[in-house]
Amino acid sequence: MRTCYTGEVSRGHLDQTVSLFGWVHRRRDHGGVIFIDLRDRAGLAQIVVDPDNVQAFEIAEKLRNEFCIRVSGLVRLRPEGTVNPELASGEVEVLCREIEILNPSVTPPFQLDDDNLSETTRLTHRVLDLRRPFMQRNLMLRYRVAMEVRKYLDQLGFIDIETPMLTKSTPEGARDYLVPSRVNAGQFYALPQSPQLFKQMLMVSGFDRYYQITKCFRDEDLRADRQPEFTQIDCETSFLSEVEIREIFEGMIRHVFGVAQQVELPAQFPTMTWDEAMRRYGSDKPDLRVKLEFTDISDLMRDVEFKVFSAPANDPASRVVALRVPGGAAMPRSEIDAYTKFVSIYGAKGLAYIKVNQAAAIPDGLQSPIVKNIHVDALRQLIERTGAVDGDLIFFGADKTKVVNDAMGALRVKIGHSDFGKQHGLFEKGWKPLWVIDFPMFEYDEEEGRYTAAHHPFTSPKDGHEDYLESDPGRALAKAYDMVLNGWEVGGGSVRIHRADVQSKVFRALNIDAEEARNKFGFLLDALQYGAPPHGGVAFGLDRLVTMMAGADSIRDVIAFPKTQRAQCLLTQAPSFVDEKQLRELHIRLRNVEAKPAA
Ligand code: AMO
Ligand code: AMP
Repeated sequence: MRTCYTGEVSRGHLDQTVSLFGWVHRRRDHGGVIFIDLRDRAGLAQIVVDPDNVQAFEIAEKLRNEFCIRVSGLVRLRPEGTVNPELASGEVEVLCREIEILNPSVTPPFQLDDDNLSETTRLTHRVLDLRRPFMQRNLMLRYRVAMEVRKYLDQLGFIDIETPMLTKSTPEGARDYLVPSRVNAGQFYALPQSPQLFKQMLMVSGFDRYYQITKCFRDEDLRADRQPEFTQIDCETSFLSEVEIREIFEGMIRHVFGVAQQVELPAQFPTMTWDEAMRRYGSDKPDLRVKLEFTDISDLMRDVEFKVFSAPANDPASRVVALRVPGGAAMPRSEIDAYTKFVSIYGAKGLAYIKVNQAAAIPDGLQSPIVKNIHVDALRQLIERTGAVDGDLIFFGADKTKVVNDAMGALRVKIGHSDFGKQHGLFEKGWKPLWVIDFPMFEYDEEEGRYTAAHHPFTSPKDGHEDYLESDPGRALAKAYDMVLNGWEVGGGSVRIHRADVQSKVFRALNIDAEEARNKFGFLLDALQYGAPPHGGVAFGLDRLVTMMAGADSIRDVIAFPKTQRAQCLLTQAPSFVDEKQLRELHIRLRNVEAKPAA
């Protein structure tokens, strides 16, 4: 029997005999004495094997990294000077009495404590990668978070109801993963992009408070914060207002951070309208740790000689913004050049700037090739509006609104997170949650020449905005909200449409005709007719939340078996070709690919 986890051996066990199970993390021969760092999910303990114990010593000599062993021995204090404060068990060691090799290991393809492994190596050998303390910690944290979510929601009367994985396409805006039906030739299920429609129908069915920690599937371009299958904490409630819904789920995040992370988040999360977020930060998920913001100067630049500014300043689909960087005049030219290159990734054609040497001396105190083409009055107002003082730098973005928002928004974050930003107090450590509210109902898709749902088509318009659905869709705001944490969208939701007539108007605005609506969502529209309660909800990205809490860079570090950027599982080699027989059963013939028969 195991007496405790290896990583838990401590002073409390002094002079006791413990029995431990684990893996050989390292074996060191020290002139006759053998030291073994034994590892299990709780951590490491040092085992000392004395040559006097002939039998144990013989076995210890055979041990190699990652052998699975059982050890029993006496816990004693480490000799003075050899205490390891980094380890929970660092004050003590176990004098080995007996060792048993439960299973040897072939030589691992890498050292488990190598921090510079390529992700390809890690994902290919995921089983071993998961043994690493970093991954063990992350997955245990993930479990803790999920548990605390369940406790919090359970206590508020939310019940966990499962929804189907083989279902009909849900419109969350990504491509579907399709599953062919064998028994219904030529027909396909879609894996859910979210349980959105089912949770709404559960509200119509009267369950009142639903949640589920569940997989969602989206075939979209992958990034560090996106996986093709990911996990949502998906929630829905009836009879609550937008503000009441936000309060409940803000409380959930506060609870989780408090218990799983010992972090006290603000008693009330600030809210900011989508419009304000875009104006001040160029982003609907602003990282509020960065103390920089845009100043709108379109109105100041309409009549300047500098065409780069005056043209967009006079175009309603464009904007001109200034980004004041306190102390930025000290920034070396090379850094400014690097930023110019950086913004070009987002489509910016350049990055004009002014060094403010003497704010009071306009124009001579302002150093920049563009100053001569901007009249003094505009310069004076620019300095006043940005609040620039001696020693500051002002960057400019002038282009289509989207380009400016993307480029300058990214620049803002980049400068904030840079060494320069940290040295100049432009970055404040800690947790900065925020609700972004009042999203637009629709986004205009230039390529397709039509409106698309900004959230999803079941989102309710703000009170008083119903009429815009037909008269001016671009102006309609939604009862939709995102929770943003340190620049990441960790959750999003909305109050839903519960009346069939409003739902029809939204479909019309989206150019979805009655027949298409019936084909795609007829079941929901029908359900709404039977006294559907007012309802709304939210879904949080569990992977993203845990990634942030773990301080990891990628959501792949908090998922046991994730996919690569190319949506492949390097461990199991999925996806893979299947044999002809399977395809035939599914009524599928491949085209345009060299189908290799499965091995
Ligand atoms: P939404 O599409 O905003 O809303 O998704 C909710 C949250 O899920 C996370 N998320 C992802 N995480 C990892 N990889 C992905 N590919 C990915 N896509 C989304 C984000 C996001 O905030 N049904 C609605 C919710 C609702 O209205 O209640 C929905 O799915 O953290
Ligand atoms: P130019 O007159 O094209 O040489 O540009 C003068 C300055 O304006 C340079 O510093 C460019 O990097 C900058 N610039 C050019 N286009 C833009 C733009 N769209 N937004 C901001 N700065 C720009």
